[in-house]
Amino acid sequence: MLIRYDETLMATYLITGVAGFIGSALARAVLAQGDQVRGIDNLSTGRRENLVEILARIDFQEADMLDLPALYDACRGVDYVLHQAAIPSVPKSVLDPLASNRANLDGTVNLLMAARDAKVKRVVYAASSSAYGDTPTLPKHEDMAPNPISPYAVAKLASEHYMISFYRCYGLQTVCLRYFNIFGPRQDPGSPYSGVLAKFITQMLKGEQPTILGDGKQSRDFTYVDNAVEANLLACRVPAMEVAGRVFNVATGRRFDLNETFQILKKLTGYPGKVNYGPERAGDVKHSLADLSRATRHLGYTPKVDFEEGLRRTIDWYRSQERVARA
Ligand SMILES: NC(=O)c1ccc[n+]([C@@H]2O[C@H](COP(=O)([O-])OP(=O)(O)OC[C@H]3O[C@@H](n4cnc5c(N)ncnc54)[C@H](O)[C@@H]3O)[C@@H](O)[C@H]2O)c1
Repeated sequence: MLIRYDETLMATYLITGVAGFIGSALARAVLAQGDQVRGIDNLSTGRRENLVEILARIDFQEADMLDLPALYDACRGVDYVLHQAAIPSVPKSVLDPLASNRANLDGTVNLLMAARDAKVKRVVYAASSSAYGDTPTLPKHEDMAPNPISPYAVAKLASEHYMISFYRCYGLQTVCLRYFNIFGPRQDPGSPYSGVLAKFITQMLKGEQPTILGDGKQSRDFTYVDNAVEANLLACRVPAMEVAGRVFNVATGRRFDLNETFQILKKLTGYPGKVNYGPERAGDVKHSLADLSRATRHLGYTPKVDFEEGLRRTIDWYRSQERVARA
């Protein structure tokens, strides 16, 4: 309907970590539904190239989550905040817990202060399945006692508690989405801390041998990024009584171990070789699988893209990037 594009009816979304993998996918989706995007990022792991064809259509500020005045500016006139900015790495947090805590917890509290004072309608937070830690019960449901292992997981869980606290104390509507291993286009494959799928796919497309850390029996509820994007948009739209002050799993509801995953990727990429095995990583959890019943009931969330289809789309995207690089 034409009325959707009336500026007065457009909503403004602030996306923190907008230059990152998930933040940039959210920015595209918000623009696609006809709303406005403001984004902040300190470009520590995010990249301007992730925003290349939309940069001119968004209000992008290079700023740090520790810069409180910048956050007050960024929240002015905003309807919804999608908070993605973080140092999203378990091993980095084990090496440098102070830096992890500053970005992942202090940054969250700063944002909540600014969002509260700007009277933002709702803040949706990129929480993490790492909060469940190594509890043996599968699937993980939101009422289980959390058991975080790494400093990263502790900061992400503490941020959830702040989200809920700001709802209880100040009435700021907050929603926490516990993402389970998100993958897809623009995930950075290049650092030693990258997600396993981005790394394996890019290596196998180049004919390089990937390395599984551990015996490969560790399993994950790998979730294609479009599913996480949809959960964020639903979290802004659904009535407050269903979602405010609550935590939801965002996942696919199936798990694959790394040995199986390697076999699927072999088929999809055409990689002819074998996989290598290396030592297990400190702070990693062995298995993860989400119970999605709460997200389905209250958020109206069901995963639309399954694991293999997500892998196909991701591989196509990395292939298209190779073609662009060669051209
Ligand atoms: N990718 C996953 O599987 C996964 C799983 C669970 C939770 N999460 C959460 O989702 C969010 C997005 O993760 P991602 O995978 O897109 O990672 P990413 O590294 O691509 O994105 C994070 C973004 O935050 C920015 N950032 C970091 N510290 C900042 C700071 N102090 N100030 C401003 N910007 C800062 C980075 O530059 C980057 O653009 C993170 O909060 C992460 O903890 C991700």
